[in-house]
Amino acid sequence: MNHPDIRNRIPEAHPGEALFEPEIRSFLSPSARFCAERMLIFSTVESTNQLAKELARKGAEHGTVLLADRQTAGRGRLSRRFSSPPGGLYMSLILEPARLPFLRTDLVTPFTGIAVCEAVTEVTGKKPGIKWVNDLLLGGKKICGILAEAVAGPESNCVDRIVVGIGVNLHARPEDFPPEIRDIAASVDPDREIPGLRNRLAAAILNRMLGSGVSMDPKDILEQYKQHLMMLGKPVTVVQGEESFQAMAMDLDSDGHLIVKKKDGEILSLSSGEIRIRV
Ligand code: BTN
Repeated sequence: MNHPDIRNRIPEAHPGEALFEPEIRSFLSPSARFCAERMLIFSTVESTNQLAKELARKGAEHGTVLLADRQTAGRGRLSRRFSSPPGGLYMSLILEPARLPFLRTDLVTPFTGIAVCEAVTEVTGKKPGIKWVNDLLLGGKKICGILAEAVAGPESNCVDRIVVGIGVNLHARPEDFPPEIRDIAASVDPDREIPGLRNRLAAAILNRMLGSGVSMDPKDILEQYKQHLMMLGKPVTVVQGEESFQAMAMDLDSDGHLIVKKKDGEILSLSSGEIRIRV
């Protein structure tokens, strides 16, 4: 693919923090290195997910990785924007459902959540929790969002590829976030204490998603996902459009739905669709 903005190494103010393919590869396990054959690094894109979807429609292979230093139109779930200033980790992976050992496209987001949680812990020693369905939180604030999007094949209505986008706030300080998310967003390493964090974290995530780091059994994925969920047994606010209600987060079922109990005792099974949770 030719893209005017493609770079092999992105210059950055902080030495050792530039996205650099050979460095990322040096941290990859043999199986992840084999799978992540194509890695595309950009200084600025509108959205790595958008670009990945365009490539996926043209047949880009399982394991294709896109990374950008910044995004000008980063996208989140429910059509929201994802603030993507320079220096964060903005990455999209193209996956072929037939190559996913768990063969369930609805498990891609939980699988990615586990992978990113474990990768953050490996590289930083910090332990984020997952807020159902796609946010990672540290100290109660969001450090990462995940956006999985299906791409239909050229001649069919079935899902041909899945693009999974991962955005991690690495070094942004509170004043770097837009005012409207300043109270709810945080970074993995705001004081820049971890050298080479970005390339190491990218590799640690890829090792789990493309290598053999995370169990591929659907039951194990849901069980591990549940262990990372930080809201079970706690009160939550369920938001659907303009409506919201209080409930207790009880459990996760075998479809990955969140089971909540309303104040009147009614039990509901929530699928991620249009729903958002406040903790
Ligand atoms: C969310 O918080 O709702 C999901 C955010 C996902 C952000 C990532 S950053 C890389 C990829 N490109 C995008 O435009 N979005 C995802």
